Amino acid sequence: MFLPIFSRAFSTSIMKQRKVAVLGAAGGIGQPLSLLLKDVPTISQLALYDISPLVPGIAADLSHISTESKVTGHSGESQLGDALKNADVVVIPAGVPRKPGMTRDDLFKVNANIVYNLATACAKNCPEAHLLIISNPVNSTVPIVAEALKKHGVYDWRRVYGVTTLDIVRARRFVYEAKNLKSIAAAKVNVIGGHSGHTIVPLFSQIPNVTFTKEELDKLTHRVQFGGDEVVQAKAGAGSATLSMAYAAREFTLDVLKALGGQSITQTAYVQSNITKAPYFASSLTIGPEGIKQIHPVGKISAYEEKLLDVAIPELLKNIESAHKFVQASL
Ligand code: NAI
Repeated sequence: MFLPIFSRAFSTSIMKQRKVAVLGAAGGIGQPLSLLLKDVPTISQLALYDISPLVPGIAADLSHISTESKVTGHSGESQLGDALKNADVVVIPAGVPRKPGMTRDDLFKVNANIVYNLATACAKNCPEAHLLIISNPVNSTVPIVAEALKKHGVYDWRRVYGVTTLDIVRARRFVYEAKNLKSIAAAKVNVIGGHSGHTIVPLFSQIPNVTFTKEELDKLTHRVQFGGDEVVQAKAGAGSATLSMAYAAREFTLDVLKALGGQSITQTAYVQSNITKAPYFASSLTIGPEGIKQIHPVGKISAYEEKLLDVAIPELLKNIESAHKFVQASL
């Protein structure tokens, strides 16, 4: 009778429990992501925040799931501080999604303000948390978050990540399908650069034992770069990718939690970087308890991919410049 009780107490005491806050938790991404995080054993508290009055209901609903984490709901700006206090990880899918015909940059004005204000609240309430930015346009929202944190003297580049995992999730699936691979694991593909259109650079040449014709490369590259549009069009005005994004965000969040627990994790994200001319760039990283430990070089790439990068970098520079202009104008 004693043993199970003892082992449970023991396992909880050695496993450091984390508080994860989801900002924008009532949204198309926020709700399924919160559901997917509810059963993560290393999360002790899942704090759900949104300006929407739906949050208490969503929190009550999730709180009935028989897993150990506690769910708290925080609705409206007056409750943002409580959602963030002592958070180890903050995931931010707050903002407006695309409608058909819109680019991610069209979202800039609305989402830039939202993200800037949320980052400011993080600077005040959880300055050491790892911030995972989903809100688009990621190419610009990440530098905006960095500037908001700098303004409060708490910026640490190692803990601010633009979540580009969905591009990798899509690339894996599309290659698996197109090349009839035996398993998804064989579709080991990295996607670097940024997170919009031509800034998305899939590195198909780095997949072991798989070769592509020029036609296949053109088709697959376009599909990864504009995969989000397939969903926006299919949803016909009802938003952009939410379920696949929630899956991708869970994958990235779990890896950050593992890194916080002491594991050395390899992941790709859009972060402050010095491996190209772009001061923010998505590439493979090693993440540890303090955040990013190492940014890996792009590695050997094909002439085809070199050309994609030549297009991506000037565009990224423009997106980063827009972010800096926005911040200067807001100060
Ligand atoms: P949604 O409109 O369904 O949900 C957004 C949620 O944010 C809403 O519940 C809304 O009330 C909330 N919100 C708005 N302003 C807020 C504020 N100031 N504080 C807290 N919450 C606030 O949108 P969806 O589909 O969940 O998308 C969210 C964002 O994620 C969009 O910007 C979208 O473009 C982006 N996205 C990013 C992807 C990526 O790969 N990084 C992929 C897909 C979408």
